[in-house]
Order: sequence, then structure tokens, then C-alpha cells
Amino acid sequence: MRASMMQVAAAKYMAYILLLALSPLLAAAQSDDTPQLGITTSFPGNELSLVKNGQLNRVVFSISNLPSADRVLTLEGITGAFLNQKKLDGQRGRVVRNMTTTKLKSVPLRMVGGKPVQVPYDFHSEFKPQNMDVEFRLLVADGQTSKAHNLLAYKGSVTIVEPPKSWFDIQLLSLYALLAAGIAFSGSFAYKSYLGGSKRKGGSTRKAVEPATAASVAAQSPAASSKTGYEEDWIPEQHLRTRSKKGKGKS
Ligand SMILES: *[C@@H]1O[C@H](CO)[C@@H](O)[C@H](O)[C@H]1NC(C)=O
Repeated sequence: MRASMMQVAAAKYMAYILLLALSPLLAAAQSDDTPQLGITTSFPGNELSLVKNGQLNRVVFSISNLPSADRVLTLEGITGAFLNQKKLDGQRGRVVRNMTTTKLKSVPLRMVGGKPVQVPYDFHSEFKPQNMDVEFRLLVADGQTSKAHNLLAYKGSVTIVEPPKSWFDIQLLSLYALLAAGIAFSGSFAYKSYLGGSKRKGGSTRKAVEPATAASVAAQSPAASSKTGYEEDWIPEQHLRTRSKKGKGKS
């Protein structure tokens, strides 16, 4: 009896000593609760990390999170910043501009089938072409502690470029070219038929040219060479019917 009571007391004492020895470790574990995530950042279809001005530029984060029953992590937002390459972190002027923060609806950072969680982020740039550093940050919430963590996901350099001329510009230019050609053609046509024609009034050359032009016009648009002399495709069916009826009545 006595011996066992002594044993219990000794065991309690040992447990107490053990707890004292462990307590700093437990405290450390509690304070350093930064989520340990594996994050890789890619610029899909953009190996050179070009950032085009005036349009959205995409990066995709692949986030691996080791399964843990007692820790539910969710992604609440993504943000980033453009950084001056000539300054060091923390130095004045290092952050040139913060990117727009994208808020997310608590995306669970839970890997399904061992696959990382993929999250895209689009950002915008309006800088003159140059090399810059960028960094992206993930805002992660811990469901147990309700703590928000701001984790650095990526830091690297990008090249700011102006986007190539858009199709709209090219189409506009070709439209201008077409209009200019049209004006030039009608100008030369008017010159020939009025000024050039008056000089050679009754000349044999003009007579020779006229039938050829008429023939070529007819060949170009077969529809125009029909009896009516105009393209019936353009006229609503009803009109055509009423016209033909009128025509019949007259004759
Ligand atoms: C701007 O970006 C820097 C660098 O990422 C960050 O430290 C800072 O908190 C950001 N500021 C705001 C207002 O988001």
C-alpha cells in the first residue's frame, strides 16, 4: 500500500517536471502558427513573365497543404505589389504600387486527391516599359485560431511591355486605306469623265471605250444584268409582288 502511494506521488512529480520542461516548446508552437503551405506561382503561357500594360495579366498559384485534421485553412484574398528593383525590402520607395486586393469567399485549402489547390489572380499595370520586381501575397485564415495570415507567395522580376497593336487599330487603318482608295478612284473617274471627256468630245476613242466598260460592269455583277436592271435581292418580297402586279395591270 505504502509503496504504491509513493509510486503515484513520484509519477505525479515526474509529470509535473515534464510539463515544466515542455511548456516553452508548447508556447513556441502556439505563437509560431504560420501556416506551412507549399506555394508555386506560374505565369501561364508567359515564360518570360511579361506584364502587358492596359490589360489583365494572370498568375496561377498552386497551393499544397499537408492534410491535417485539426487545422482548417481557407484562402480569403490575394494581393500583390510592384517593387522598385533598385531598393531593398523595407527601404523607402521599395513598394512602387500595391495591386488591387482580390477578396475570395473562403476557398478551402484542402488538397483533393493529392492535387494542389489552383487559384488564379489577375493584375493590372500602367507603367512605362521596364523591369520591375513583383510580389504576391495570400491572405489565409486559420479556422481554429480565427487568425488571418499574410503569406508571401512569390517574389520575382517581371518585364513591363506595351501590348502589340490591337486588331481594332489594324481594322481601322485598313478602313482608312479603303476610304482613301475609294476617294482617289472616284476623283480620277470624275476627272476623266468630265474634264478628260470634254476635251475629246465626239472623239472615236471614247466611243470605243464605253461598250467595253459596260460589258465589264455586267460581268462583275450578274444580278445587275437582269431585266429589271437592279438587284432584286435588296427589295422586300412584298414590294416586288405589288410591282409586278402593277406592271401586269398596265400591259
Ligand atoms: C502594399 O504592398 C506591400 C508589399 O507587399 C505591403 O507590405 C503593404 O502592406 C501593402 N499595403 C497595402 C495597403 O496593402
